[in-house]
Formats: sequence, C-alpha cells, structure tokens
Amino acid sequence: DLAYLNGDIMPIEKATVPIEDRGYQFGDGVYEYIASYAGRLFMLGAHLDRLERSMGGLDFPPIPRSRIKAAIVDLFERAGYDRAGIYIQITRGVAPRNHAFDPTLSPQVVMTIRQINALPENLHRDGITAITVRDIRWGRCDIKTIQLLANSLAKQKALSEGHSDAIFISDQNVVREGTSSNLFIVKGGQLITHPLTPNILPGITRMAIIDICRETDLKIDESFFTTDALYHADEVFLTGTVTEVMPVTQIDGRCIGDGNVGPLTRKLYDGLRQKAL
Ligand code: PDD
Repeated sequence: DLAYLNGDIMPIEKATVPIEDRGYQFGDGVYEYIASYAGRLFMLGAHLDRLERSMGGLDFPPIPRSRIKAAIVDLFERAGYDRAGIYIQITRGVAPRNHAFDPTLSPQVVMTIRQINALPENLHRDGITAITVRDIRWGRCDIKTIQLLANSLAKQKALSEGHSDAIFISDQNVVREGTSSNLFIVKGGQLITHPLTPNILPGITRMAIIDICRETDLKIDESFFTTDALYHADEVFLTGTVTEVMPVTQIDGRCIGDGNVGPLTRKLYDGLRQKAL
C-alpha cells in the first residue's frame, strides 16, 4: 500500500505530516475517496469537479486540476491494483496554531491507495439494518470536509446497537443521508431522494443512479421527505463509493416493505455495476 505526500510516493508507513498541519488541529481540509473497477478509476472527472468545489468552498488557493489528476493517476498506476480505493486529502497547510489563517499558505496534499475489500456479498443480497440519528452536523455538508466526527459517532452508535449504519434526520424530521452515503426511497415505483442543498453531500454515486433512472425511464423525484415516508417506503437504499447500492431492509426496528430487498434496488445495483465495469 502506497502513500503520496506533496509529490513523493512512498510506503504508507513512511508517510508522516507535521503536527501543526491545520487539518490535524482544525479539521481544516477536504477529501475525496475514489474507487476503481477492473483497473479503471470510476467517475474520476466528477470527483475532481467536487474536490475543486470543496476547496473553493473553504477559500483554498486553487491547485491546477491537471496536477491533481496526474498525481492520482500516477499513484494508481504505481500501485497497479484492479480494485483500488484512493483517499485524497488536501489541508490548508502548516502554520503555528491560530484560528485565523494566512491565505497564502501552501495546501498539503496527501493520498493513500489500498485494495478495496469488497463488502460481504450477503449485505447486497439481503440488505442491512439501520437506525436514525439527529443530524448535528454543521450547515455546509455539501463541502466534503475532513470534519467527520458526527458521522463517525453516528456510525459507531449504529454498530454498537447491532446495526450497520445510521441515517441523519433534521430537526424537522427531514431525512438527509447516511453517515457516508446518500439515501433513496422507492414508493409506488417512483424514487425519491433529498435535493442538493447545503445539508447533504452531492454524491457521485447519487448522480450515477439518477443518470441510470433517466436512461431507463424510472421516475426520480429530488424532494424532501420525512421519517414517516422513510418508514412506509416500499424500498430504501444507500449509495456511495464504498456502499455502491446498499439495500436497507429495517430501520429503527421497523421492516421496510416486506423486509426483503426490492426489485428496483436490485435493478439499480446491477445498473451501477454495469456502468462501472
Ligand atoms: N463518503 N454522503 C456522505 C456524508 C459521504 O461521506 C459520502 C461518501 C456520500 C456518498 O458520496 P459518493 O457517492 O461520492 O461516494 C454521501 C466517502 C465514501 C467516504 O467518506 O469515504
């Protein structure tokens, strides 16, 4: 497994960063996670677009897209994995601790590449169970920052209660997204997912699923819905780079639909796999 550290590639164990990196002290950084299928990076362009948007959202000085892309491709080719997961993190830079920052700091770019251990096949076949949690995250969840403490605590709560994931719910009971995934429900043959607002991450997999719906004439509605609609949906699934399309068959102890993985979830999982392979 390899790491990239500001231009150099080395074994992960050899890569270290200064303790006054603002990512370490303030969570002042953004990231991406990109997967490959059969030796090809999936939707690299869309990930680069989002990384640029995230950096702009935090007023980072821009880094030429071609330079980031070349570094990603170089690391990917050096590692030579068919099924790789690449983590890219860009922090504002290294400086003595101070809430205010010097706008001319040099961003620090680190990456790691590892082989992806495919999720156990039975999860996609049988679905997972989940809990809902209050969304206590900040107001700019559309920026992919490395401040993931609320996500991490929610995921751990789900695991400690014997479930696989947690779903964030707003104070008004609006269903937002998973801890590292977007969420879709199916009702009467139609799909519904949260619209793109500052309260959710614009997922690349979400975008791919919406494309597949349009290509196959499936009705997809980007609108708000509450926990009531979630509990009474015919099907629920999560989408993400790691998650792919993950059926959720039980939420807060209630069965979704008949408790089995639904036909549209299955169809979209197959559709995503086809797109990627
Ligand atoms: N997480 N919502 C949140 C909060 C996420 O963290 C992620 C991805 C997604 C799905 O986005 P995408 O389809 O682009 O992967 C939605 C990545 C995988 C992570 O944290 O590692």
